[in-house]
Parts: sequence; structure tokens; C-alpha cells
Amino acid sequence: MLPTLRTVANGLRRSLGLRSLQTTSTLQSDNLFVHRDTPEDNPDIPFQFTTENKKRADAILAIYPEGHKRAAMLPLLDLAQRQHGWLPISAMHHVADILGLPKMRVYEVATFYTMFMRKPTGKYHVQVCTTTPCWLRGSDEIWNTIRENLKLENGETSKDMMFTLSEVECLGACVNAPMVQINDDYYEDLTVEDTVEILCDLKEGRKPKPGPRNGRFAAEPIGEPTSLKGEPPAAGFGVRPDL
Ligand code: FES
Repeated sequence: MLPTLRTVANGLRRSLGLRSLQTTSTLQSDNLFVHRDTPEDNPDIPFQFTTENKKRADAILAIYPEGHKRAAMLPLLDLAQRQHGWLPISAMHHVADILGLPKMRVYEVATFYTMFMRKPTGKYHVQVCTTTPCWLRGSDEIWNTIRENLKLENGETSKDMMFTLSEVECLGACVNAPMVQINDDYYEDLTVEDTVEILCDLKEGRKPKPGPRNGRFAAEPIGEPTSLKGEPPAAGFGVRPDL
């Protein structure tokens, strides 16, 4: 096998006693960006909105003025994904037709946003946040519990098409870390026991209650409030001597 340019360059630098340079890491997989025809995802499979979703699509399009209809692309792709369970290429083509755009403009959007699932996805898409605040609050344990419970690795879907597991970046609920998103719901302030209970409920066809699991209503402090407890001082407090 021929050495790559990078290998040759690194060898040259070493022989000259130079420090190696930091470079952008190489792309390990084109999975996120490339479409390859498969029996379940190819342009010959027809896609149409259902009658109900056609009405929703018309209502979405009506929000945007003439000349700016392409701004409806995200909600239309989302609608297509909700109808189909994931976003096949024929649904992207249908959205491109509705908006009168080249297909490439839709591919650009659908491959940029990771919320669009371009492969068959389980009934429950379990997204585990492992970014710093969740990690500090134990997301490793939550992640490993889910991996072992579902017997899935990152990006895999169970054979019965019930679960897809994804490790994701911050989902914006850091104050309720650690947390996971399952379809449209957030499950927050999780312990290992909560996580197992949630998965068990889903497997047995029950809908677990979303939100914090530690008794909080939302993101308020646990127990008593610790700040903003009295009347706020008047404007100018600390600046004007008479206040
Ligand atoms: S770090 Fe997990 S929600 Fe923000």
C-alpha cells in the first residue's frame, strides 16, 4: 500500500527533528453525509403526504410569503419524518418538488441537521446527552445502563425496530442533568434506577412520565429557594445614596 501524503510529511518532519503540526482530524466515516440506495431507501419508492399531513403542509407553507417559501423546508422535512418515522430520500425529493427547489438544496439541509434520521429508526429514539454538565452528573453511568439494557451501541437500532440509541451533545437541559431525550420527551435528573424504569415502561407499552425524576417541577432548586427570596430593591440600589 502506498504511504499517504500525511505519513510522508510526518516522516519528513521527524527526520528533520521538527515537531508535528496539529491538523484537523481525518473523517472516519461518510455515514452522515452520503446516501447509498438500499431496498428500503431509494428514489423509486414513492412518498406522498397523507391527506391530513397535506393540510398541515399547506398551513406551514401559508406562513411564508411568496418568494420565501423555501424557509418552510425544515418544518416540511420534520413533517415528512414524523409521517414516515425517518427521512427517506424520496421524502426529500417530495419536499424539493413542493418548494420548487433543486434536490441538492434539500440534501444540504437534511444532511446538516442531525435531527433528521436518514436510516430506518426505531419506534423510540433514545438520545443520551454526554456533554460536560451531564457527564459531571453521571451520564457515563446512564449511557452504559442504556447500552447494556438495550444491547445496542451508538447509532444502532434493535432488530425489532423498537429502539435506536444515539449519543448526543447538549440538549439544553443542563440544569436537570443527567438527562435523555426519547422522541419528543425529556427525562431529567436521572438515576440508574430511573433509567431502567423508563426503558422497562417503554418495552411494556407504557408511557413514562416525562420531566425531572427527583421531585422537581422544572429547574427550580431542590428544597428551598436560595436566592431572590425578598422584595427586589428599587432601581438605582447601591448607586444612589438615598436608596
Ligand atoms: S449538557 Fe446535557 S443537557 Fe446540556
